[in-house]
Amino acid sequence: MNKINKIKTLAGVEMPQLIYGTAWKKERTTDLVVQAVVQGFNGIDTACQPRHYREDLVGEAVAQLNQRHGVKREDLYIQTKFTAVDGQDPDSIPYDPTAPLKEQVKQSFAQTQKNLGTDYVDSLVLHSPLNTLEALMEVWTAMEEIYEAGGAGQIGISNCYYQNVMELLWTNAKVKPAVLQNRFSPETGYDRDLRTWCNENGVKTQTFWTLTANPHILNHSTMKDISAKHGKTAPQIFFRYLTQRGISPLTGTCDKTHMSEDLQIFSFDIDEDDIEAINGLLYS
Ligand SMILES: NC(=O)c1ccc[n+]([C@@H]2O[C@H](COP(=O)([O-])OP(=O)(O)OC[C@H]3O[C@@H](n4cnc5c(N)ncnc54)[C@H](OP(=O)(O)O)[C@@H]3O)[C@@H](O)[C@H]2O)c1
Repeated sequence: MNKINKIKTLAGVEMPQLIYGTAWKKERTTDLVVQAVVQGFNGIDTACQPRHYREDLVGEAVAQLNQRHGVKREDLYIQTKFTAVDGQDPDSIPYDPTAPLKEQVKQSFAQTQKNLGTDYVDSLVLHSPLNTLEALMEVWTAMEEIYEAGGAGQIGISNCYYQNVMELLWTNAKVKPAVLQNRFSPETGYDRDLRTWCNENGVKTQTFWTLTANPHILNHSTMKDISAKHGKTAPQIFFRYLTQRGISPLTGTCDKTHMSEDLQIFSFDIDEDDIEAINGLLYS
């Protein structure tokens, strides 16, 4: 079986460098998560956001994996998110939207525990920063309390594209963000400066939209040459490039072959020249 690299975050969590994403899978969520883990994934990303994620069916998958495949809870890295009201479908908000923010986080996490059938998650991520520093820190403080009570191995943030927001959070937080999960897109310049800041401060970065935002990179002749040289697909080369740079991509593939190809990325390395060539495609 292919082994997924793990990196240690500043909270001491061993985080897989390739994580299986569960958005938009609806009623297929359980089967796909079971299949992904049986094939070799050990990291799962979800959210307490019924609009896009069936966190309850991720929980069903975790139960099935345990009962039928002997996969223990501690063998898995489970990551979920708190999503504020403006990211929720008004008809399916998993907490009382009129409650104070701190209470919303508590209620959302209680729903997560119920959905996933577990007392703790390995990573609790704030889905997006809130509009004011005061609101952001109220939510963050509630997440810190969950972390301090042992409900989360680490806390992190997503969709945070401004370094000043990240720095404000960092400065005001008692428990520092261990991960930043952002889209990997030319529209945000691939977060180049922000990523440097994260590296300097020990914040590990995860990416989504890694393939969908980058057809121009995946189809570029340079990428095709590197793929041919290694006998790997362009997505495999791109994922390997990211992981060799210390970045952890998410993949939400529904395809068995793609799952297997994605899992093979740790069985080879690309060289410095390949890395420089892909840097050139992204940043020139
Ligand atoms: N924090 C946030 O706001 C946020 C937002 C979006 C997503 N996410 C997370 O990120 C996860 C991943 O989402 P994503 O937006 O990056 O897209 P994705 O669900 O991974 O889909 C990417 C596309 O790439 C294809 N693909 C995957 N592996 C491939 C391979 N080896 N070769 C060729 N094609 C491949 C998939 O098609 P096939 O299914 O046919 O393979 C799919 O069409 C989500 O499930 C979710 O957990 C988070």
